[in-house]
Amino acid sequence: MGTAAAVLTLAGLAILVFRRRTVPAVFLATTVMDKLMFVFLGATLLFGTLATVVYQVFGSGFHYRETISPWMRELMIFRPRPELMLEVPLLFQLHVITALLLFALWPFTRLVHVFSAPVGYLFRPYIVYRSRDELRGARAPKRGWDPIEAPDPQRLRRP
Ligand code: HEM
Repeated sequence: MGTAAAVLTLAGLAILVFRRRTVPAVFLATTVMDKLMFVFLGATLLFGTLATVVYQVFGSGFHYRETISPWMRELMIFRPRPELMLEVPLLFQLHVITALLLFALWPFTRLVHVFSAPVGYLFRPYIVYRSRDELRGARAPKRGWDPIEAPDPQRLRRP
């Protein structure tokens, strides 16, 4: 189940990166930090998936509960035991290193939204989105999606 979810996640990431590169408005809003974040996010996902497929699905199985799990638990309670990672297979080591680097980058990237509580949305006034005529978007509107013309202010006036 984890492997199936991982493959879907990688496919979703590929679709979103493709959209970010090919839609001009989205590409213009992409920073260097976003690109760096995608590298580490993609690498973490890829190494995690590869490690599971290579060692757990097709290999003889690796007992991460006796190595990676206690290593993580001890780290969380400020009693680091790096020796627990010494015998861990390379793909798992790469998975954990890229994940830790991703965690270090996290606060400086748009992933920071994960920790935001958008309570203000409940109380703030509505935002009215209006496009300026000459800058309606990067693409011509599709059939059936033509913008509605602004009403003539003269006709809106009461008699
Ligand atoms: C330091 C933090 C992390 C540790 C210690 C860790 C550890 C592990 C371990 C032990 C597995 C193998 C599980 C199994 O064989 O059943 C795994 C798989 C995986 N991890 Fe991580 N991981 C970490 C962070 C992350 C992050 C941040 C992501 C995603 C951005 C991620 C995505 C995955 C994926 C997609 C798999 C493969 C699917 C699966 O095995 O279920 N991991 N990870």
